[in-house]
Amino acid sequence: MEQVSRFYSGPGGLVAAISAALGAAGMDLATLRPADLAPVDEFHIRGRAASLEIIEALDLSADSHVLDLGSGLGGPARTLAELTGCRVTGVDLTSEFCDVATAFSEWTCQSDRTHFRVGDATATGLPEASVDAAVTVHVAMNISDKPALYAEAFRVLRPGGRFVVYDVLQGEGGQVRYPVPWAPDSSTSFLATPEEMRELLAAAGFELISEVDSSEQSLVWFQNMRARIERDGPPPITFAAFLGDAFGQMAANQVANLAERRIRTVMVTCSRPL
Ligand SMILES: C[S@@+](CC[C@H](N)C(=O)[O-])C[C@H]1O[C@@H](n2cnc3c(N)ncnc32)[C@H](O)[C@@H]1O
Repeated sequence: MEQVSRFYSGPGGLVAAISAALGAAGMDLATLRPADLAPVDEFHIRGRAASLEIIEALDLSADSHVLDLGSGLGGPARTLAELTGCRVTGVDLTSEFCDVATAFSEWTCQSDRTHFRVGDATATGLPEASVDAAVTVHVAMNISDKPALYAEAFRVLRPGGRFVVYDVLQGEGGQVRYPVPWAPDSSTSFLATPEEMRELLAAAGFELISEVDSSEQSLVWFQNMRARIERDGPPPITFAAFLGDAFGQMAANQVANLAERRIRTVMVTCSRPL
């Protein structure tokens, strides 16, 4: 786990670096909206569009309390909170990401509804049946003990509550080309196949509601992102803020991984039975 959080931590000083980059681009922190941060804080394929799909799948109200397992820089949590009024608790292994997530929520006036803490998604310490819904977005790729991850989601979710998993899965096209945005090499990358994920969720006790493979849209999303950057230059802040210069190669590998069907992007919605 230490290797995983070291990979994501980057060079340090991320809050100050992002604040400076936004200022240099003429953006005022006082009037920032959650969507303005999407190029850096929706750290998953298809960005904010995927978070909007998660909202559709979760059926939330302003009274809901949602757990985000592996909340990163907090983009999905803020999108859920802003658009539904719900409260979100994010748990993430990478301490620096929790600091950034907390600062971003202050900048965008979402601090009352989003809270982030350092922790392991396989053992959050939250009480049993204490949340109305749970999500995990592009996290299980870093976790070898997937039964523990899904058992923890099941434990903290109230009966009848929904759990959405949006993850990168192993495709039929062969081994992943590294580096990728979640790992420099195979030592911290543990991809399940769609069949394995389905079986793992069922073994944890979940009832499957739906499964959507968005791999084709994911490829188009990456191609559009690259075309936009070639045409207009990069946005003021990108994942390169913490992934460094390797991000260019990672993005190119993701295009190849998707085109060659080495990876799939899949969203599964399930529930803890009553
Ligand atoms: C690719 S990022 C996704 C972040 C966020 N879910 C999003 O979509 O914007 C993967 C995140 O998983 C976190 N992570 C990996 N293993 C974890 C674990 N065992 N417990 C909690 N967080 C973990 C990393 O620290 C990182 O923030």
